[in-house]
Amino acid sequence: MKIFTIFATISFLSTVLAGTPWIPEPRDGSWLERHEGFVNNSLINGGEINLLFYGDSITDNWEVDDPYWGAKEIYDEYYAPLGSANYGVGSDRTEQVLWRIINGEVSNLRPKVCVLKIGTNNLDENTDVDIARGIASIVTELRSRLPETKVLLLGILPRENSVMTSRCENINGMISILDNGNTVRYLNMRGAYFDGNFFYEGLYVHDLIHLSKLGYAMWQEVMDPLFSDMFNSTN
Ligand SMILES: *[C@@H]1O[C@H](CO)[C@@H](O)[C@H](O)[C@H]1NC(C)=O
Repeated sequence: MKIFTIFATISFLSTVLAGTPWIPEPRDGSWLERHEGFVNNSLINGGEINLLFYGDSITDNWEVDDPYWGAKEIYDEYYAPLGSANYGVGSDRTEQVLWRIINGEVSNLRPKVCVLKIGTNNLDENTDVDIARGIASIVTELRSRLPETKVLLLGILPRENSVMTSRCENINGMISILDNGNTVRYLNMRGAYFDGNFFYEGLYVHDLIHLSKLGYAMWQEVMDPLFSDMFNSTN
């Protein structure tokens, strides 16, 4: 009886402590400061921002200047010249991105394209269905606040092992239906990173979650046809 109560309590607490993927939730400290920096950037430079990246550390690292795991060189070559803002934040889950979007980060913006890749950090805490719902709510929020912006929704990248990767694919299957052929397009880059059994050599760093510089070069290359099409389209 006592044991049961303890388990019931633990189970209750973990439900309460875990975020709900579609309910906006902030973090604190330096996270809030970064968010404020993004809000400021949008207010000051909004007119020059044609491309917006939203995501977690994997997006954040585009601008890290490191020869092994940073991709600043590639970002500076392909995206910065287009007028790009990178609002990726390490460790963010869907509920944090949602909170940031509705709290001022996209005010004063009118980008042509928003590249969104999010959800991998929810895997520890939430079910696949709930994570997909969280991602869908971000797409809805972006579309309603940035009606002239096309959303390029990327699938969650394969990670760690085939068990985790099949969860990612389960979620990806659910979010792929958000593609409406025009204002929201979905792209799954899985095949470039994982062949079903193993991860292609050199595209990840040691944790098999974050990308190496080569992994970013692959991202740019695989995304380019659809991205260019969306970025250059006039409607
Ligand atoms: C954002 O702008 C406000 C108003 O100018 C300023 O007080 C604040 O320090 C800025 N925050 C960051 C993180 O840049």
